[in-house]
Amino acid sequence: MPRMATTGREEWKTFASVFDRFTEKQVQSLITKGVIDGLIGHLSMGKEATVFLAKAKDETVIIKVYRLSTCDFNRMYESIRTDPRFPKLNRQRRKVVFAWAQREFRNLLKAREAGVRVPTPITHLFNVLVMELVGDETAAQKVKDALPKRPAEFIEDLIAQMRKLYKAGLVHGDLSPFNILNSNEKPVIIDMSQTTTLEDPNAKEYLTRDIKNVVSFANKLGVELTVDELGQKVKA
Ligand SMILES: Nc1ncnc2c1ncn2[C@@H]1O[C@H](COP(=O)(O)OP(=O)(O)O)[C@@H](O)[C@H]1O
Ligand SMILES: [Mg+2]
Repeated sequence: MPRMATTGREEWKTFASVFDRFTEKQVQSLITKGVIDGLIGHLSMGKEATVFLAKAKDETVIIKVYRLSTCDFNRMYESIRTDPRFPKLNRQRRKVVFAWAQREFRNLLKAREAGVRVPTPITHLFNVLVMELVGDETAAQKVKDALPKRPAEFIEDLIAQMRKLYKAGLVHGDLSPFNILNSNEKPVIIDMSQTTTLEDPNAKEYLTRDIKNVVSFANKLGVELTVDELGQKVKA
């Protein structure tokens, strides 16, 4: 079990349940390489990934572990199969999970380079992804749980992020108030493992879905926006 600062029973159980021996080795290797000093806590357990906080010198960073035993393997494979950046990927569970982590790393990097507000990716190692923590010391909340104080401004900023992402040739594919953090009243987009390029035959459908999600969130906040308007703004 990798060295960590937390020894609480619940944390231990969570670490133990997610870390198969292979993953344990990767986390250990990140410690040996000096990327992180150790894990400090558990943040989230999703369908395919478990997210931890880790210490890296004076900073706190995020470790996202894609579970090798994910139950969502078929969905994963169907999603990455049409991404032109991953041709010839065959249906091998491990390889698909590794590609999935690599895909999120590449997407975050490309988005970052295009000036989209996303966490800066630090490194990836097989099924483990290390990235910047959004928030100071503790993680910023999802916007669904921390509604913006100035909705119109927040949505306008979010549209600017969507436009930059589109310009960079990417479609998020799972954009919703679950994957947008409210960081000091600024939107930060996260969770980019299913993000694909505009050449992906499914890109159009994903974009339409992302747009619909953002429009319904904006409307819920009392911001007037239609699907057509947002579509035009994103592609402008
Ligand atoms: N870089 C980050 N900074 C702060 N919190 C994060 C970061 N990445 C993930 N989280 C937290 O972990 C949760 C799960 O991460 P996410 O990438 O959305 O994976 P999934 O939804 O596939 O499980 C997020 O909803 C968020 O609360
Ligand atoms: Mg998510």
